[in-house]
This record gives sequence, C-alpha cells and structure tokens, in this order.
Amino acid sequence: MKKILVVFGTRPEAIKICPLVLELRKRSSLKIYVCVTAQHRQMLDQVLESFGVEPDYDLNIMKDSQSLFDITSNVLNEVRSVLNTVEPDLVLIHGDTSTTFATALSCFYCKIPVGHVEAGLRTYNIYSPYPEEFNREAVSLLSKYNFAPTPLAKENLLREGKSAESIFVTGNTVIDAIKYTVRDDYRHPELDWVGDKKLIFITAHRRENLGEPMHHMFRAIRRVIDEHPECKAIYPIHLNPIVREVAYFEFRGCENIHIIEPIDVFDCHNFEARSYLCLTDSGGIQEECPSFGVPVLVMRDTTERYEGLNAGTLKLVGTNEEYIYKTFNFLLDNKEAYDKMSQACNPYGDGNACERIADIIEGKEYTPWKPW
Ligand code: UD1
Ligand code: UDP
Repeated sequence: MKKILVVFGTRPEAIKICPLVLELRKRSSLKIYVCVTAQHRQMLDQVLESFGVEPDYDLNIMKDSQSLFDITSNVLNEVRSVLNTVEPDLVLIHGDTSTTFATALSCFYCKIPVGHVEAGLRTYNIYSPYPEEFNREAVSLLSKYNFAPTPLAKENLLREGKSAESIFVTGNTVIDAIKYTVRDDYRHPELDWVGDKKLIFITAHRRENLGEPMHHMFRAIRRVIDEHPECKAIYPIHLNPIVREVAYFEFRGCENIHIIEPIDVFDCHNFEARSYLCLTDSGGIQEECPSFGVPVLVMRDTTERYEGLNAGTLKLVGTNEEYIYKTFNFLLDNKEAYDKMSQACNPYGDGNACERIADIIEGKEYTPWKPW
C-alpha cells in the first residue's frame, strides 16, 4: 500500500486540501497520513473542524507576529522528524506558503518525492506576492507531480522546463469545496444586518501590504462606504495583530462597516455568494467570487489569477488610495460597468479536481480539466 503524507499549515491550504484528504481516504490502495504545521492555529483549526479532518501529527509552530525565519526554520526541522517516522512514498503539499516551501525543502533533503497541488501560478515578480512567488517557484524546481489548476498554470510550468509528463491539469480543488459549502437557504445574523442593502465583502492580509499600503486601502474603502448609504460592508478580519491594528484604527466609528472575527469556510463562501462586490488582497477569494458572479477589486499590484482578469470578473486596483476610491465608486455608480464584471464564470474548475488528483496518484487514467 502506498503511503501518502499530506502536509499543510494555514487556512487557505486547509480549505483547498481537506477535500482532497477526504477523497484520498476513500481509496483503498492508499494509506493517508495528515500532518499540520499549524503555521496558523485558530484559523486552521476552524477549517479542520469544518471538514472533520483530524491530523495524525500537529507541529504547533505558530507564534505571535512570527517572522519568515521562524516559520521556515521550525517547519524544516519539525517536518523532518515526521518524514523519518512515516517514511512516505509521496508527500502532498499545496500552494505557496512558507509551510509549503519548507516542507518541500525537507522532502528534498530526505529524497522523498513531492506532489504539488495548485502548481504553476506565477506573477514572475519575486517580491509580489511576498514571499509566495519565491515559495512556489522553488517548489516547482523539485516537485515530481505538478497538479496545475488551469491550462495557463501548465503553460508556465512547461515554459520553465518542467516535463509535460509531470504536469496534470486538474482544476482548482477550491471549486470542489464550494460544491459542499454554498446553500440557497443560508442565513446568518450579519446578513440580516445587511438586509436589502448591497453587501460589500472585504478581506486583507498580504505581507507586502502591511503598513502604509493597508492604511491607504482602508481609507479608500471607508470614504466610499461613508458616501454610499445603500451599501453595508462586512470584513472578517485576519488574526494578524498588525492587520487588526490598522483596520480598527481606519474603520473606527464607521457604522456601516462591521469588522467581525474570522468566519468558518461555510459562512465565508455563503457570504461571498451573497455579496454585491468584494475588495480583497486574498488569493483564494479571487477564485471563489468569479464562480458567484461577484466582481472583485484586487488590492494588489500583481495577480497570478489571469483567468479572472481575462474573464473580466477581477480588476487589479493596487494600493493607491485615490485609485481604489475612484474605481470602487465608479462600479457602484455605473450599472453597465458593474454588470459587465458580474458575469458568473468558472475559469478555475468543475468541482472534480480532487477525484482527478487521487486517480493520478493511484496511477489510473485521468481526463484533464478544460475550462470551456
Ligand atoms: C500566511 C501565508 C500567506 C497566506 C496566508 C493566508 C506565509 C509566509 N504566508 O500569511 O501566503 O496567504 O497565510 O491567510 O506563508 N495568527 C493568529 N492565529 C491564526 C493565524 C494567524 O494569531 O490562526 C496571527 C499570528 O500572530 C501570526 C500572524 O497572524 O504570527 C501571521 O501569520 P503568518 O502565517 O505568518 O502570515 P499570514 O499573513 O497569515
Ligand atoms: N476565508 C474564511 N474565513 C474568513 C476569510 C476567508 O474561511 O474569515 C476563506 C476564503 O473563503 C478562502 C480562504 O479563506 O477560501 C482565503 O484565505 P486567505 O485570504 O487567508 O489566504 P490566501 O487565499 O490569500 O492565501
């Protein structure tokens, strides 16, 4: 029986890899072990609970305001002992966090093959997003299986010299997750508070946006919300204390913006599905909102999600206060421009990515996912 060790540490990795763990556990030819680094603690536990996944190993590395050195060195060393104990045939990792990179490096040092889920996303700007672009490029150097979510991600990997046989276009596993989370009859007290107003959904956490850029982003949002009483905003805030300080300062006294604690993935997907517009610097939310026809203003200078840009549902607005203010205002005041952006499309998957990945790992035939 093949031994597969799945390693992850943060909320977005968990949301996108737990559905895969559940699928892999159905396969009788595989023995599945789950190791969480707990680079995130509470935000990770929320997802584990939602999907009912209990880790076999919990490295519990999170520290308050942790540095990249803290995460990388702790994961590298702690994962090593799990690799020595389990002796897996394959380690599965996801995306581009420091957990992902350090786990891949640990596997390389132990000469254990790596399968990379959500492989091939690129901006080709090593500092944006930071440190994620470096992390994912580095993982691609050593990964044996590359599960590319889209044909574009496959093209990136081919251009970088990865062999075609190592790349599998599967769709993004987050679309698999959405199949289980979104409900027509969903209710929540915060949505009752919004009532028939337009729901503006906000998230922010990127390391390169901490400090001045985040002040600019939040000031722009506040000005627009103050001028548009037909809107109410909900902002489930990240647990990073640096983010929280800026947000509570810039949104103080603003009645139409509710800052709430992180919500679980079921709530989050249903909130997104009910939104009029989303402003975010998140990666995953750029993939989820297009599925619901919800336009996204991406508060970053770069994106690796070109599929959404090309489909017209995402717009890069950077972190300049005036530019965010103008673009956000324009979309609220101009129905035609809004309607153009709110075409529901799903360039990221058909909800069967986990099945494809499990088939590939078992050595079965698979049919690559094609967007349309
Ligand atoms: C990390 C990832 C980023 C990913 C993001 C998803 C890296 C370097 N960054 O960034 O790629 O997009 O997760 O959210 O891998 N905290 C808690 N409890 C939690 C989670 C975080 O208190 O459950 C606080 C801690 O003080 C922690 C800080 O947030 O030190 C930052 O967490 P960290 O994982 O370093 O960075 P993120 O910005 O969350
Ligand atoms: N999310 C969540 N609760 C929240 C905010 C976000 O479950 O309060 C989910 C969201 O639906 C998406 C993922 O977390 O699937 C995105 O995580 P994040 O923005 O932290 O990281 P990124 O995707 O930027 O790496």
